[in-house]
Amino acid sequence: MKFDILTLFPELFAGVFETSIIGRAVERGFVEITLHNIRDHALGKHRVTDDTPYGGGGGMIMKPDPIFYAVEALLDIEIPATGYAPFLAQGYPPIILLTPQGRVFQQAIARDMLQHERLILICGRYEGMDERVRQYLVTDEMSIGDYVLSGGEIPAMVLVDTLTRLIPGVLGDTQATAKDSHSSGLLEYPHYTRPYEFKGHTPPDILLSGHHANLEVWRRQESLRRTQSRRPDLLEQVELSEQDQQFLAGLVDDVPPGG
Ligand code: ADE
Repeated sequence: MKFDILTLFPELFAGVFETSIIGRAVERGFVEITLHNIRDHALGKHRVTDDTPYGGGGGMIMKPDPIFYAVEALLDIEIPATGYAPFLAQGYPPIILLTPQGRVFQQAIARDMLQHERLILICGRYEGMDERVRQYLVTDEMSIGDYVLSGGEIPAMVLVDTLTRLIPGVLGDTQATAKDSHSSGLLEYPHYTRPYEFKGHTPPDILLSGHHANLEVWRRQESLRRTQSRRPDLLEQVELSEQDQQFLAGLVDDVPPGG
């Protein structure tokens, strides 16, 4: 999968894309990430990328032209007045603007995005973006949650990380993402590892029993317990078996988050 990221701060991405799972995925050719500095496509001696808003009101707005020119350069196209939409229809990549105004990113959206071979991500900065970028260039707007960051760079990293670990082969164990929190629609069950005893606390006996069927039941129940106590909203969207429902009905006053 190929990601083209348009940003005013390409240097922000260095460590994140070179380390651990993403770094290895890049090295092994599962993903290709290209950073494009929007400033390189700004006109004039000073390569200005922002300006004051028409109508006043203070703050700075990202200019549309360097962003359009950056996309035109990387795709080798000229976008007409009618906008980018026809290119998308012809199989050109989606263009996603990272903004707190977008729809909220979710695991299911990430899985959906995997069908694309290439994605273009635009990171906003300053108080906002000239509306023509929204109207005539981007094909989707994505938020990573209801809070405001200084720019779209960290959200772009979130999106690339989430998608990369879903690409078959990136994680050695193909089961690993299937059991992740949110993959099944439930939060993940608790994990333990060595030492057996730590500050007087030991793992639940079932984990050492070697009884696989019981262990699966326990894990499912702990996932349900955790989801019920921390994110009951998620339970409304998952398919629950008769046993799941009986187990949930029997839960009373579960331990709160962190407990
Ligand atoms: N830019 C600033 N805040 C953001 C958010 N929450 N999600 C995506 N892009 C953003």
